[in-house]
Amino acid sequence: MIPVENKKTKHTIMVIDDNASELLLLKNILGEMYDLRLCKTASFALSMLERISVDIILLDIEMPDLNGYEVLKIIKANPATKEIPVIFLTGRSDNTSELEGLTLGAVDYLAKPFSPPLLLKHIEIHLLIESQKRKLKDFNENLRGMVAAKTEKVLKLQKSILKTVAALVEYRDTSTGSHIERTERYLEILVTAVMNEEKYKKFSEKWDIDLILQSSLLHDVGKIAISDSILLKPGPLDAKEFAEMKKHVQYGLEFVEKMKEIDGEEDFTEYARIMTGYHHEKWDGTGYPHKLKGEDIPLLGRIMAIADVYDAVTSERPYKKTIPHKEAMAIIRDGRGSHFDPSLVDLFMKKTDEIHDAKKLETRKNIDNKSDGGAAQTPAGKRS
Ligand SMILES: [Fe+2]
Repeated sequence: MIPVENKKTKHTIMVIDDNASELLLLKNILGEMYDLRLCKTASFALSMLERISVDIILLDIEMPDLNGYEVLKIIKANPATKEIPVIFLTGRSDNTSELEGLTLGAVDYLAKPFSPPLLLKHIEIHLLIESQKRKLKDFNENLRGMVAAKTEKVLKLQKSILKTVAALVEYRDTSTGSHIERTERYLEILVTAVMNEEKYKKFSEKWDIDLILQSSLLHDVGKIAISDSILLKPGPLDAKEFAEMKKHVQYGLEFVEKMKEIDGEEDFTEYARIMTGYHHEKWDGTGYPHKLKGEDIPLLGRIMAIADVYDAVTSERPYKKTIPHKEAMAIIRDGRGSHFDPSLVDLFMKKTDEIHDAKKLETRKNIDNKSDGGAAQTPAGKRS
């Protein structure tokens, strides 16, 4: 038997039976061990269930207002009471009635006349099962909480490592200022817009925007391998230097491939591979390094190309002045169908106010930071 330590730990049992002598009998059997709620009608029991919680219900079937099956259906339909174990305690001893009761969700079925010790044993077993279920539920919830906390920690660590890698790139390429972080802002606006467009749903419905933005921090990671004489050159690059600068994409891809060997086929490294490897491709096939054309360029690469160039154009670099937002948008528009995916340019144009606001915010944040840049030739700066 479940020990009864004091009155407060007594389990509450509700008995629903229209027969007064049955109620009295049950009171005599159970009254010492349990806190009883005796109900002569189903409607009284149901209204009591709205006010108190009970651990188990003993339910008769034949009653004048609602029969036991109807009461059970009401209890099971209510989220507040559906978990309470219900035991039928009834004069009906046929298999059909028992099957119906158990099918409707009762945990047990005892026919009258019943053996009191057997009834006590059945109640004890069901209370024990409920207690184990609660413990398991608590354990699962704790486990879920622990896993969520651990995951959050790992994601924070991942983000901080990425930020460090991005910072390393920017320390080397001082001309670009906070290009990587600013590009992330513009990328967020365009990726969100794409995810909301019906025509891109088949590509974007499984995208995880947080992971996309995090992985975008790596898009210029290959610049780490570019020599200072090229990376820090204050003026425009000559053809040979530019050919060398273009290799940052290949170096970046090698870096991401190494990550992939460790990480497996995770979404994060796949996003990073696309944005690192395809952000300098052009819609008309004149980009680099793959010289892909149109929709052969992965969608995230086409998106990244716009965000990357917008930032390069609107940022001051040693070899060029800042170009205002409006002119930068005109430059992007001019590249519609040649440099950029025409549909994405249209979407980008629709977001002009949001882009401008993000630009102003980033400008304020970097008010003391006069440098900026990248490694792609842009229409205006000829090097982004
Ligand atoms: Fe780049």
